[in-house]
Amino acid sequence: MTARVPIGIVMNGVTGRMGYRQHLVRSLLAIREQGGVPLRGGGRLWPELVLVGRNEAKLRDVAARHGLTEWTTDLAAALARPDVSVYFDAQVTSEREKAIRLAIDAGRHIYTEKPTATTLSGAVELARAADAAGVRHGVVQDKLFLPGLRKLDRLVRGGFFGRILSVRGEFGYWVFEGDWQEAQRPSWNYRAADGGGIVVDMFPHWHYVLEQIFAPVRAVTAHVTTHIPQRWDEDGQPYDATADDAAYAIFELDGGVVAQINSSWAVRVNRDELVEFQVDGTEGSAVAGLRRCRVQHRASTPKPVWNPDLPSTDDFRSQWQEVPDNDVYDNGFKAQWEMFLRHVAEDAPYTWDLWSGARGVQLAELGLRSAREGRRVEIPELAP
Ligand SMILES: NC(=O)c1ccc[n+]([C@@H]2O[C@H](COP(=O)([O-])OP(=O)(O)OC[C@H]3O[C@@H](n4cnc5c(N)ncnc54)[C@H](O)[C@@H]3O)[C@@H](O)[C@H]2O)c1
Repeated sequence: MTARVPIGIVMNGVTGRMGYRQHLVRSLLAIREQGGVPLRGGGRLWPELVLVGRNEAKLRDVAARHGLTEWTTDLAAALARPDVSVYFDAQVTSEREKAIRLAIDAGRHIYTEKPTATTLSGAVELARAADAAGVRHGVVQDKLFLPGLRKLDRLVRGGFFGRILSVRGEFGYWVFEGDWQEAQRPSWNYRAADGGGIVVDMFPHWHYVLEQIFAPVRAVTAHVTTHIPQRWDEDGQPYDATADDAAYAIFELDGGVVAQINSSWAVRVNRDELVEFQVDGTEGSAVAGLRRCRVQHRASTPKPVWNPDLPSTDDFRSQWQEVPDNDVYDNGFKAQWEMFLRHVAEDAPYTWDLWSGARGVQLAELGLRSAREGRRVEIPELAP
């Protein structure tokens, strides 16, 4: 059997939706089930987990369910353990910054959910502090690892589009108010004071998708609103939904590409997937979702003529061609975890760091400013 190389990871926020399902179960436990992460020089990295949270009973339950023995409600004590080298954070956003600070001060490498902080200055400070401490840092940018977006990225790299003109993104679904049907997202998401809001949640995602697949984002114009002002929480109590639940934004990218993305928790889905991006270029177009990607080349582009007097004879959706997988796609969160752990253990390349995370927070902050001031806002470069 190949030797196991243990890597100690403090996991904070494992009782939450993301922390439990995507990071603990689908990523780190799945990595253990597959026998660890193979290392270049032989051996397999083996995650040893220390679960951290606020609620002892919940932690004990999660640990027992998965045969884990190490858990504590004392973050500082977990970070001080000599067998721990990585700190991971999937807590509510508002608790993140101070916990990451503690971890950097303890000399631990940082891997975290987005947004990395609630303010741009906080996000930049974290990136600076991590650099100064000489620790490795990474931010979850899971959408880049989705099969649909991997295929889209492949099309861009292969020059399929010619000159890219525009990107249209539609994201969202109906999040129930919580009165007659339980809401499928946590209530803090809809309270501004608790770090909620669709802009701070989704603009960091749109930022890395746009920057890494297409080009850097140079300006934002956003209209932001709260369509549903009252919701019901986990205990069935009504509360004021003070955070934005929909954002209609235009992002201007380098090279003149215009990206227009609607994000909403108050929209009913009439698409094939919960998020879809249509990209139009001079040579061809594509529509990418979470899993699928379809294309239309200029040579097979129909020539519709506007005539409302006659029913359309074109079945437009059927005129697109499926892009084949040509690859095996693992769970995106797990794929990124493996890359980060190899980055820590054997210096493997890794670009999705706290600076990239800070640029995402910057886009959210400036998007909100654009909405508040009713104007287009340019995005300055962040200096390390
Ligand atoms: N990458 C993605 O696609 C994605 C998707 C959803 C959420 N997220 C991010 O993941 C983080 C967690 O989101 P979630 O949807 O799992 O939330 P959640 O409410 O389900 O979980 C929050 C976790 O934080 C803990 N917590 C710590 N302090 C808390 C406090 N003061 N109040 C409430 N909970 C507290 C909770 O116990 C729980 O473990 C957020 O930062 C969110 O932005 C990322």
